[in-house]
Amino acid sequence: MQINTFEEYQETYQKSINQPEEFWAGIASNFLWKKKWDNVLSWDFASPSIKWFEGAKLNITENCLDRHLAEKGDTPAIVWEPNDPEKESITLTYRVLHEQVCRFANVLKKNGVQKGDRVCIYMPMVPELAVAVLACARIGAVHSVVFGGFSAKSIADRINDAACKVVVTADGAFRGNKQIQLKEVIDDALIGCPTIEKVIVLTHTRTPVSMLKGRDCWWEDEIKLVDSNCPAEEMNAEDMLFILYTSGSTGKPKGVVHTCGGYMVYAGYTFSNVFNYQPGEVYFCTADIGWITGHSYIVYGPLSQGATTLMFEGIPTYPNASRFWDIVEKHQVNILYTAPTAIRSLMGFGTAPVQGKDLSSLRVLGSVGEPINEEAWHWFDEEIGKKNCPIVDTWWQTETGGIMISPIAFVTPTKPSFATLPLPGIQPILVDEQGKEIEGNGVNGNLCIKFPWPGMLRTTYGDHERCRLTYFSTYQNLYFTGDGCLRDEDGYYRITGRVDDVINVSGHRIGTAEVENAINMHAGVIESAVVGYPHDVKGQGIFAFVIYPGLSKDEDLTRKDILQTVTRIIGAIAKPDKILFVSGLPKTRSGKIMRRILRKVAEGDTSNLGDISTLLDPAVVQEIIDKSKQL
Ligand code: WTA
Repeated sequence: MQINTFEEYQETYQKSINQPEEFWAGIASNFLWKKKWDNVLSWDFASPSIKWFEGAKLNITENCLDRHLAEKGDTPAIVWEPNDPEKESITLTYRVLHEQVCRFANVLKKNGVQKGDRVCIYMPMVPELAVAVLACARIGAVHSVVFGGFSAKSIADRINDAACKVVVTADGAFRGNKQIQLKEVIDDALIGCPTIEKVIVLTHTRTPVSMLKGRDCWWEDEIKLVDSNCPAEEMNAEDMLFILYTSGSTGKPKGVVHTCGGYMVYAGYTFSNVFNYQPGEVYFCTADIGWITGHSYIVYGPLSQGATTLMFEGIPTYPNASRFWDIVEKHQVNILYTAPTAIRSLMGFGTAPVQGKDLSSLRVLGSVGEPINEEAWHWFDEEIGKKNCPIVDTWWQTETGGIMISPIAFVTPTKPSFATLPLPGIQPILVDEQGKEIEGNGVNGNLCIKFPWPGMLRTTYGDHERCRLTYFSTYQNLYFTGDGCLRDEDGYYRITGRVDDVINVSGHRIGTAEVENAINMHAGVIESAVVGYPHDVKGQGIFAFVIYPGLSKDEDLTRKDILQTVTRIIGAIAKPDKILFVSGLPKTRSGKIMRRILRKVAEGDTSNLGDISTLLDPAVVQEIIDKSKQL
């Protein structure tokens, strides 16, 4: 499956475009199927209806576990590095991981989980999180992992949207010198979740938790009551594998649905190629399994390829800014996949934390989640890669399931801050606002994809129309990514950021509408408007313009109250970085907020606001500008 030269990439790419079905059938034959497909692909973007490998039967955990047992039973599958560097790291071999997954799968069954049921997972970055994910897949249950930073209300919304039956959680999580009381958050969430029947709680921080009779049970007790024999459920290629909630430009987060066959093929293929993974290597992706990067490139992609995947519980700056480099040295990491925001934050500490660290094991570096600025790219290249490791700047999305536009390590010549070229099978197209294709090189446009790929989303849970409207209706017969993109003179792609109302804060997608709704829940707030603005470390920060008539003298206290509200409604990750109290918002006569103006103000660039004559009350703009200067 691996591509080794640029010529080979070009040939493979051509083939994948000319004969996509043959191409993907060839890739898919590298995986383990209980029954082969009848049909490689049927599709229609208008509905949308996308089916890959129809008629095929498989279980993704047999690909991730069972098939490696004969030759790699004693190879480390997961290496876990705890938050506290003084504590022991843990290694789970493929044999041990297989056993644990089967055992926990039986625990799920014992607690009433059946094929097709939805299971919410809200856990720290511990091996048991991967075990829980795979155990769901083992029995054909659909997992919905919720990132540990979300609030009780966000969890409740997600649980209710998917009508989950069981929650798997832990007493708490360690994050740097903080502890997060996960079970307490779940207890709050479950007040409003009638579909939940059972909660399985892992002991981790060993903080006191309330355990409700009949509903809550301990992971450690449950696994003693079952055996470790659990045959893998036979799944159809198009059966649902998981739901992952993500923010869009409107309304509540939507549950992106991925299915078993195509997702597996795509995650495995892209992992093996982009990172040029070699047997025996240690691969470290610093993401959280609560996001798509963790799903595809900590769990499914690496394990499907028999790789050793390193899971890290903590944060890059604890106990100090050397932590990543200590981990690289300690575990002899060969491939490091991280986010620009982490690189920028570590850059801020200078080179001292890197000094004296043995990073010679590193062979490939990767970046994901947001545009990487040139300065960060060069720092990563020089200080970490010692100019000796290709950097793969991987562009993709929750909806795409896997990497779409990216260099292939050792194959594609890289260029700082460019995601470079599409992977085989991916057909990007740039369009203008009207949906007309922008051809040629040295052009900018909205990034769409014109042909299906196996890892793409199939629907949004419980609301297929929303999927159609969000991704397939803006431009006819195209999947719209929501990203702006430059194709330079060499035909290289550079993602310039979202063109919709989604902000990317430290690589986390946050919808402006969601934050506005949360702010508006605060008593006293009449209305608000939220925009993103450039932030040195986070990539984008959140700027909120808030109408709050009864504002007291202590504006700062009110600001803190609002932050508290947002934390309650969404989670700390959505807290605005700046709040500006204003008496009005720039609206058109039809009542639409002119965000373009607010974005300019947030950027601190008010010299050229463009045409404001269509505003209902142009005077508010001056007030906003004046106030913003005092902030
Ligand atoms: C952005 C994360 C520039 C982009 C895998 C996309 C990037 C959104 C890159 C998806 C990159 C991701 N360069 N921008 N290499 N990778 N993005 O769903 O705006 O959390 O639409 O998936 O992140 O975020 P999501």
